[in-house]
Amino acid sequence: MHQLSHRASSNAGATTVGAVIRRCSQTLLQARVHFGHGTDNAWDEAAELVFYVAGIAHSKGSNAYLKNLTPRCIARVNELLLRRVHERLPLPYLTHRAYFAGLELYVDERVLVPRSPIAELVLARFRPWIKRRVRNILDLGTGSGAIALACATAFPKASVDALDISVAALQVCRRNVRALRLSERVRVLKSDHFAAVEGRCYDIIVSNPPYVGRAEMRNLPSEYRHEPRLGLAAGADGLDSVRKILGSARHYMHANSLLVVEVGNTEGALLRAFPRMPFVWPEIAMGGGGVFMLTASDMEK
Ligand SMILES: C[S@@+](CC[C@H](N)C(=O)[O-])C[C@H]1O[C@@H](n2cnc3c(N)ncnc32)[C@H](O)[C@@H]1O
Repeated sequence: MHQLSHRASSNAGATTVGAVIRRCSQTLLQARVHFGHGTDNAWDEAAELVFYVAGIAHSKGSNAYLKNLTPRCIARVNELLLRRVHERLPLPYLTHRAYFAGLELYVDERVLVPRSPIAELVLARFRPWIKRRVRNILDLGTGSGAIALACATAFPKASVDALDISVAALQVCRRNVRALRLSERVRVLKSDHFAAVEGRCYDIIVSNPPYVGRAEMRNLPSEYRHEPRLGLAAGADGLDSVRKILGSARHYMHANSLLVVEVGNTEGALLRAFPRMPFVWPEIAMGGGGVFMLTASDMEK
């Protein structure tokens, strides 16, 4: 702690946005923090920290680098940087903001930091895979509401059900629904998997469920320990939730409705557990992968 505080203050000479970003990014690299909560490198994370504190829009980009920061601003950057490094807190839990599919969302430790590669599929409006008109969508395990809200934005005529078993997560989700003025089309429901929507049928069911297996849970970088365990842990092989989804999803779908589920690196365990299921794995340009798609008829086979 002492050493880092000294490093932060001994660089107090850095006062422009660009110089402070450089110093923060060096500190993040030296401290060997884990990147994986919205950014994948030190520079982008440092830029988000400095832009957040200085109230600069990211759209200003490098044009803002020569702007001078006030001593108060620099002190606040240092304070958050020290917490990021020493507590291993993911940056979005310090800034309370995360970006997903072009939306800015409020986040705190009640929800997983949104980062699903499903964002890219939503922005493409699930083309070319969806074969029917999309009137309603279900987001199972919605957390902050990220996927549900991205879907509501991408399909402006569709209604969206956002389900989660965690009451705490749903409080955050409701806050985001209100902030984005989507309350008329996004319904937020407490539900253990599909329990609250018995009898309904959706054109698309999308889910980023918990899928981390027991061994992997033990070895996760410290940053992930700040995230709700309910959002990550899924039994011995990581498939507890996915098994339930695969067991019942077709009852909530039309024959050509689309099921889209992220399983990340639990893909191998899934293929071993369901060797005959005709999973489709769309290519995801932004990286991440591990997302499968199925229609209801695929699951009948
Ligand atoms: C990996 S997080 C995904 C959150 C959000 N969809 C995202 O992509 O950022 C999984 C979510 O599933 C929820 N969840 C866990 N078990 C559940 C269950 N049995 N029924 C409904 N939701 C559940 C967790 O509370 C958590 O919010």
